[in-house]
Amino acid sequence: LSAKRIGDRTPRGLKLLGAAVLLSMSAFGCNQEMRDDGRLKPYEPTPFFEDGRSSRPIEPGSVARTGVRADQSFAPAAAQDEVFLTGKQNGAHLTTLPMPVTKELLERGKERFNIYCAPCHAQDGAGKGMIVLRGFPPPPSYHEDRLRRAPVGYIYDVATNGYGVMYGYWDRVEPADRWAIAAYIKALQLSHYTTAAAAPAGAATAAADASHGAAVAQPGGGGGH
Ligand code: HEC
Repeated sequence: LSAKRIGDRTPRGLKLLGAAVLLSMSAFGCNQEMRDDGRLKPYEPTPFFEDGRSSRPIEPGSVARTGVRADQSFAPAAAQDEVFLTGKQNGAHLTTLPMPVTKELLERGKERFNIYCAPCHAQDGAGKGMIVLRGFPPPPSYHEDRLRRAPVGYIYDVATNGYGVMYGYWDRVEPADRWAIAAYIKALQLSHYTTAAAAPAGAATAAADASHGAAVAQPGGGGGH
């Protein structure tokens, strides 16, 4: 159909077309009862679930796929806290974790780190992960002085918003897990800089036979995979 022929259509022709469309619509309309299948409309009640709602509650840890900041809309009230979400207090990065440091926290951080960060940063944090070996720009090592001195809130901030060519993880990793990762990175850094002299007397022999004590901070180790 050429542009010229479309232009040739008379208004009367268009009117006829419109009438035909309306007619076909009303014809389908008669059929509505039979076409009402089991699909539920938003907010439509249903006896299927105990609470009578067809819309299901959002699972904890769900993240929004659109531009909504997931951490601000779905996090439990306690975690809506500005400091917790941004890693900053009065514009300065937190130097301590906003939660107690526990073995569970570090183990969770290690697990999440190895999933989300190690592909580039490597399990030891030195920055030679598989994606880097395949050509992605190499990140700096976590063990260089500048990053070793960086407050834990800064690590959390980078994990959240990204840095340079690294994208942020605000929509993939929930805030509590980003803190766990930041805590683990700090432990990783510490583990690289503990000298025999700084360790308490007897620590060297203790470390030799009791690897469990250092398990959470071992660079890339202890994973057993
Ligand atoms: C796809 C690769 C990739 C992944 C995955 C990745 N990073 Fe990065 N990261 C980089 C690169 C590249 C840089 C350096 C960016 C630049 O300088 O432009 C970087 C830099 C950093 C820095 C240092 C910022 C600075 O001041 O120099 C930190 C901290 C960091 N990443 C933390 C993380 C954490 C935490 C995760 C996991 C949640 C993560 N990264 C996942 C590639 C990655």
